[in-house]
Amino acid sequence: MYTTLRLLHVVSSIYFVGSITFMVLVLGPRLKRLGPTIQGPVMSALSPVMVALNAISFIIIMVTGILMIFTANWHSWGDLVSTGWGWDILIGIVATIVAAVVGFGLIVPTGIRQGKLGASIAGRAPTPEEGQQLQGLSAKLEKLTRINFTLVAIALATMVIARYL
Ligand code: HEM
Repeated sequence: MYTTLRLLHVVSSIYFVGSITFMVLVLGPRLKRLGPTIQGPVMSALSPVMVALNAISFIIIMVTGILMIFTANWHSWGDLVSTGWGWDILIGIVATIVAAVVGFGLIVPTGIRQGKLGASIAGRAPTPEEGQQLQGLSAKLEKLTRINFTLVAIALATMVIARYL
């Protein structure tokens, strides 16, 4: 049971952290360089599938993570606030929850606004005001995605060192 949970947990976390890392380090900077007329449609095409997959992997990470704390025979809930292992896992849980709030609560709505604005100016040059709005939204998205990347990196680091504490 524990092995299956751990397998699901690790595979989902590889996707979750991997997709955010790819976005922040590879795709984001390249799309930014290509400009809003390319960035907009690419992000609109990617967003629905990425949001769905990230939501599914987040749920699997949370459920398997909680069950792992219950089923590991060498740890219990009480350990979360009484051992080095527990505090470490707790920091990881908090980082994961904050990452989910930033991701689903701030990044997704900002991305939707950017997509809608991009779609409304497709096929023509944006007005100066629209250009400014697009720039503002993409700067906000860039900042939020970096924050999210830092949070999932913290979560990953705490999880990987937990067994040595
Ligand atoms: C983005 C978020 C997360 C990532 C990337 C992540 C990743 C991982 C990885 C890679 C491991 C295996 C570590 C190893 O083999 O040494 C692990 C273990 C674990 N994770 Fe997570 N995890 C995340 C969130 C969570 C959450 C939210 C919980 C609890 C609700 C949780 C509970 C655990 C537990 C109990 C272990 C076993 C630790 C041990 O080896 O003693 N994880 N996690």
